Amino acid sequence: MNVLVFEDFEALSIAAAKRVEQQVRENSASVLGLATGSTPLGLYRKMSEGITKRGMSYRNVQTINLDEYIGLDPLHPRSYHTFMDEHLFKHVDIPEENQHLPNGKPDSVEEECLRYENLLDSIGPVDLQILGLGTNGHIGFNEPGTEPDIETHCVQLADTTREDNARFFGSIDEVPTHAITMGISSILKSKEILLLASGKNKAEAVKTLLEKNITKEFPASFLWNHPNVTIMVDREAYELME
Ligand code: F6R
Repeated sequence: MNVLVFEDFEALSIAAAKRVEQQVRENSASVLGLATGSTPLGLYRKMSEGITKRGMSYRNVQTINLDEYIGLDPLHPRSYHTFMDEHLFKHVDIPEENQHLPNGKPDSVEEECLRYENLLDSIGPVDLQILGLGTNGHIGFNEPGTEPDIETHCVQLADTTREDNARFFGSIDEVPTHAITMGISSILKSKEILLLASGKNKAEAVKTLLEKNITKEFPASFLWNHPNVTIMVDREAYELME
């Protein structure tokens, strides 16, 4: 696991965007694994700027997101579909048919999980997977206690996760209780993984991750089982390590 420490969120976002742009320049048909949440917002802004400022194009790229809330229609203002549209897809030239997220309102959640894992296998492997880090160590929505060999599945969100994400909703009561998420083993199929963590509230989780104690109580620790992981953190997220 490589650890890169940056001065602040801006520097981290620039570096992450450079890595993504390099990946797409080397292989214009790259498969990018994407995350939602606050952490990749700077990266997505920089990727959007890359279109106008650096002549980037994503027209042959496929994207596959980690997760989606169950019960939210893709057009719901708080769905991860809408999040990705607002923060990335409407600013770059990825064809709509190449943008993949789980359907949060399927007829059968089980079938949707299977469909999504099959999709991952058919368009994948993911060349570069972007991850954020939950304060409780989750990646995707693989909450503490998740077995590492599970593929895409339905998960009950931890209370801490719903609290953390309440800022995107009016109140915690509006945060869905369940989500569909790629599993740890789905994530580890990626060729390369880039985990981003920013801010003081991630310092404890970053410290725990770097202790290399591989346990299902801290799902991000399974990243130690992957040969090509880089974690990019800013000073605040790294402060307990200095
Ligand atoms: C989002 C996801 C989550 C977030 C994590 C960190 O698609 O899979 O694992 O990456 O909850 O969220 P932020 O970046 O909002 O702190």
